[in-house]
Amino acid sequence: MIEFDNVAYSYSGDALLSEISLQLAPGTFHFLTGPSGSGKTTFLKLCYGALNASGGQVRLFDQDVAALDRDGLAMMRRRVGVVHQDCQFLDHLPVAENIALPLTVSGQATPEQADNLSELMTWVGLSDKYEALPPELSGGERQRAALARALILSPDIILADEPTGNVDWEMSQRLLRLLVELNKMGKTVMIATHDLALIRAAKSMVPARILRIANRQLQAAGVDL
Ligand SMILES: Nc1ncnc2c1ncn2[C@@H]1O[C@H](COP(=O)(O)OP(=O)(O)OP(=O)(O)O)[C@@H](O)[C@H]1O
Ligand SMILES: [Mg+2]
Repeated sequence: MIEFDNVAYSYSGDALLSEISLQLAPGTFHFLTGPSGSGKTTFLKLCYGALNASGGQVRLFDQDVAALDRDGLAMMRRRVGVVHQDCQFLDHLPVAENIALPLTVSGQATPEQADNLSELMTWVGLSDKYEALPPELSGGERQRAALARALILSPDIILADEPTGNVDWEMSQRLLRLLVELNKMGKTVMIATHDLALIRAAKSMVPARILRIANRQLQAAGVDL
């Protein structure tokens, strides 16, 4: 689904990531961990084609990401839901419209999709926040709205970048349960996080693989991090 073949990346000068080879099989659940600044967000950006590898090859759904034109990349990206680390919204639009934005932008805003939107908002526990504006949401509500927006196009892969940053432990577990539920529905999930307690909590819910970025490389890590 996502394949890295000897991938390297540098913003400028020294390589931030190098010799990364990896295959994310459909339906798997991965954590990505590593110190701040080690390249987790960069790695996720390589996964969904927001950045192109400086060396090696990234394949998304069996296609070389670097060889895709803009339209091809846009098509691929619809199949990958991303929860961004900073979860930004358009503050002047109600939450429901923000969540539906990927539909509107891709010209798929149909009545059935409106039903999906309401189901999705109920699923993440935001059914009473339709008309709220993003600045009126709590941190945990923002994270759940960001997750809903990442899911609105029914992606096959979900990449979540610190989805539990800035929320308390109870909310972290709630978000984790949502991501585990998505994985049980067959979606491939990758979560970048510093939160080792969250990784430990996940072990009893889902067979997760843990990847760690250290010394520019990606290593498999054990549960007892
Ligand atoms: N657009 C950019 N231009 C230049 N350097 C960048 C850019 N984006 C990130 N970097 C640098 O690359 C390194 C890795 O950044 P990245 O955001 O991938 O780390 P991270 O592991 O996600 O960190 P965190 O845990 O703090 O989110 C950092 O040193 C960062 O300063
Ligand atoms: Mg990051």
